[in-house]
Amino acid sequence: MKILIKNGHVIDPANGRDGIMDILTDDGVICGVGTELEVDGFEMEVIDASGKTVVPGLVDMHCHLREPGFEYKEDIESGTRAAAMGGITSVACMPNTKPATDNAAVITFIKERAKEAGYADVYPIGAVSKGLQGKELAEIGEMKFAGAVALSDDGMPVTESWLMRRAMEYAKMFDLRVISHCEDFGLADGGYMNEGPVATAMGLRGISRAAEEVMVARDIIIAEAIGAPVHIAHVSTRGSVELVRQAKKRGVEVTCETCPHYFSLTDRACEGFNTNAKMNPPLRTDDDVAAIKEGLSDGTIDCIVTDHAPHHIDEKNCEFGRALNGIVGFETSLGLGLKYLVNEGVLTLPQLIEKMSLNPSRILDIPKGTLSEGCQADITIFDPDKEWTVDITKFASKSKNSPFDGFKLFGKPEYVIFKGDIILNQGVIL
Ligand code: DOR
Ligand code: ZN
Repeated sequence: MKILIKNGHVIDPANGRDGIMDILTDDGVICGVGTELEVDGFEMEVIDASGKTVVPGLVDMHCHLREPGFEYKEDIESGTRAAAMGGITSVACMPNTKPATDNAAVITFIKERAKEAGYADVYPIGAVSKGLQGKELAEIGEMKFAGAVALSDDGMPVTESWLMRRAMEYAKMFDLRVISHCEDFGLADGGYMNEGPVATAMGLRGISRAAEEVMVARDIIIAEAIGAPVHIAHVSTRGSVELVRQAKKRGVEVTCETCPHYFSLTDRACEGFNTNAKMNPPLRTDDDVAAIKEGLSDGTIDCIVTDHAPHHIDEKNCEFGRALNGIVGFETSLGLGLKYLVNEGVLTLPQLIEKMSLNPSRILDIPKGTLSEGCQADITIFDPDKEWTVDITKFASKSKNSPFDGFKLFGKPEYVIFKGDIILNQGVIL
């Protein structure tokens, strides 16, 4: 089937496109982008994109799809459907599954399930250590050959520095990058939220910024010492941004990401013991939010990821201390980026799209995040000026643990084309 997307504002940072254009897809592939496309109208779907923005299908390099093992929270089908609702057509999923994604069999299983589910391309991330136990390395080579695109023990830090060093060395041999969840357990001190006046007022044990920052510093030092790349996950503090900024200046091969909640919320969102604002790393302060925005704007922070972390209502509807960490993020990330970054003048719209599609694709070395002719036709269409209200009951995700219910955001995806098929049509998933 052919699809002609007419008169949309095409933003395609990979090719420097930013203007009113048409896009033609044929048989799952982008076959034309321009102003005067020669089109024969036989068996062709036409989408009028006047007044709308047309971008590469978004790429989320950090999410938790929970399958295998935690299908009561999410599975690959529900998770990728939620991703499509958010305009995301490629996701990289973290290995804290059950069993852990620490071997070729689980990588293969995830890829097979994703092919059947069909709402997004799924790129599994393999574990750094067996069982995410932080004791011995997982089978890195086997996982790479089965399709792992990166390595991480996300959810857990790699506490042992020697193991992190070995992981980075092996990862480099296999052209992979370690994604580091930076947390020093000793400094985190079993805390529940950011250390500061809000935690004190709530009577909750706090997690200091240093718990994140010492590990960011450590991993930069290791990467620099052995000449290997490293990617810092979910940066949340001013100090972490500054460490990455200085390391990049020295030429260290370090990349990093943040999540929409770290530029849109502070620890005050936890007030009232709101467990939907509990995550790891925790929400920080206004000063950290300002630093995250500076880091996004000056290029220190390469990409925006969701850290989509679905949890069952019973795992959130409990005492703050007992509630599990994490929030769902697929269906709100574009809207939060538009509202808190583009509308506030932190990023231009092309810069936002670059951080949500092209940059993560380059870091993972996957052929995504572009509207180049010959590429798989993954395309997202939205109106960046159109306001919408978040309603968690409408989420496609199995889990509803979002602190953004009722927020007024912009640019809800209206059409998503995945592998040349329209899978989201006027906001309705097919
Ligand atoms: O909040 C979080 N949730 N942080 C993590 O690092 C892991 C994630 C999860 O798996 O639920
Ligand atoms: Zn993490």
